[in-house]
Amino acid sequence: MCGIVGYIGWRDAAPLIVEGLKRLEYRGYDSFGVATENGDIRVVKRNGRISDNHLDLSALSGTIGIGHTRWATHGVPNEQNAHPHTDCSGSIAVVHNGIIENYALLRRKLTEKGHHFRSETDTEVIAHLIEEYYTGDLLAAVTETVRHLEGSYAILALAKNDPRIVAARRSSPLVLGIGDGEMLCASDITPLLDHTERAVYLEDGDIAALTPARIDVYHDGMPVERQVDHITWSVDDAKKGGFPHYMLKEIYEQPQAFYNTIKGLEGDSRLAMVRVAPELTVAACGTSYHAALIFRYLAEDYGKKRVNVELASEFKYYAPPIRELVIAVSQSGETADTLAAIDQAKAHNCPALAITNILGSSITRKADWTLFMCAGPEISVAATKSFTAQLAVFMAMVNAMCDREFDDVLAHANCSIERVLSCTLGKAVALISEAQEMFYVGRGVFYPVALEGALKMKEISYIHAEGYAAGELKHGPFALLSPETPVVAICVPGRTYGVMLSNVKEMKARGAPIIGIGIEGDTEVEQVVDVFIPVPDDHQMVQVLTVSVVLQLLAYHTACALNRDIDKPRNLAKSVTVE
Ligand code: F6R
Repeated sequence: MCGIVGYIGWRDAAPLIVEGLKRLEYRGYDSFGVATENGDIRVVKRNGRISDNHLDLSALSGTIGIGHTRWATHGVPNEQNAHPHTDCSGSIAVVHNGIIENYALLRRKLTEKGHHFRSETDTEVIAHLIEEYYTGDLLAAVTETVRHLEGSYAILALAKNDPRIVAARRSSPLVLGIGDGEMLCASDITPLLDHTERAVYLEDGDIAALTPARIDVYHDGMPVERQVDHITWSVDDAKKGGFPHYMLKEIYEQPQAFYNTIKGLEGDSRLAMVRVAPELTVAACGTSYHAALIFRYLAEDYGKKRVNVELASEFKYYAPPIRELVIAVSQSGETADTLAAIDQAKAHNCPALAITNILGSSITRKADWTLFMCAGPEISVAATKSFTAQLAVFMAMVNAMCDREFDDVLAHANCSIERVLSCTLGKAVALISEAQEMFYVGRGVFYPVALEGALKMKEISYIHAEGYAAGELKHGPFALLSPETPVVAICVPGRTYGVMLSNVKEMKARGAPIIGIGIEGDTEVEQVVDVFIPVPDDHQMVQVLTVSVVLQLLAYHTACALNRDIDKPRNLAKSVTVE
């Protein structure tokens, strides 16, 4: 977790770093800090969010600097634990994203040697270790330091009177930006977009020394060349574009995200590979896991392919009998548990195919092959367009399994998504925003759609929402139904339609207000439920998409009605790089 930014060049570093950190707040936002080098090291740190603070940068002169926005792991969020951290003399400053697993041992040894610690963080040991090995060459000191670190890190370091930033990475993302007479480094490319279109993605184990004129990368002590990539995302791609929140903007970008992803996969040979694999195992977390569950229903039903779906956070702690191909799905490409699932696949001699949104992310380095979703940057913590783009990848796989039977369905899906963006949700929002708890129910492929709807609602509105297979409610949760527990029921035509209607009537008989989602003109559903939300009558795969978008909008408007912090819900971060 956490976002880091570094700048070295000819401009004032601090304001530029602050702007970059604002773009990375989705990675963590409990505290932040900036350090600059200008004959000495100056540090300013604050508790809270960088976007809420008017930071006086006058103390931070200089054209070399590093900054950090934090998602606390070791030590509570406060000013002392905020990064950058410095050594005993205040001559070395470090920002870090990741977790140093052996920090307690290192801290004890360093304390015995006389080092004085000021924070509770794991990161501070890095600053003191660099101090320990520093003999006038920051690059050499960082190179020696990382040899002693266990765990994950993306590090930026500064030293007094050393006109360089030294960067190092292992299992945490770090990208360098090449400008004209200036260099940048950051956790992802969004802080670079205003300044350059040229980026270098560091490999695990790389250490880089940045000066205004050049970047030197080393691996195992040897200089190495790293490819310079062209950044295709625009600054506008990463900004709100007139929407009140990134989440709403990203919901509206879904027709495009779906279309682009389907187009991007046309003729991709990896789809054929998935098609011929006798069995698939998919591992993912959160929303990505729900997309994988939807894939299981579609692939088994239409493609007659056995698909096992595993929570990546569980997968590595037991030994499922995996065979054939493992597919690891991660929007960010940095989720620690999903990366560990690839290690598990390798331990079983299974090849791994990654599905991700982020070029150069860690998952692309670990997996044997990668399929990219073309969702563009997703800034809001709640996943929306990346979910739809994941479904696009999965639906393209199902289409390949079925000899492209669904070409037409996938070709028009974006238009159907477009139509539901303007759905009317006022009555449903009024009903839900009064509630403390609620249910989402569906059957068949709409069961994981219900799970995802509930996840969206709870994470941004803080209403306790449970997703259930509609038939399961009577096995216990019925005890919770009352006029105060609204139920969102997905009642679209198909094999489960009749039984869904019966389930809805059972819930209604127990007093629960029902918000029913059905196809336009379905008076049978409309008459049974309290609030009816219509979606276009379409193929089941398209209905998965349109219903999901309606549920995202329902969560969004409810959270707005409750005045929640939509793009940065409490206690969460966009990229979960810890176990
Ligand atoms: C929910 C959400 C999370 C992520 C999960 C996995 O809206 O965003 O549940 O889906 O943390 O993240 P990725 O897909 O980046 O591995």
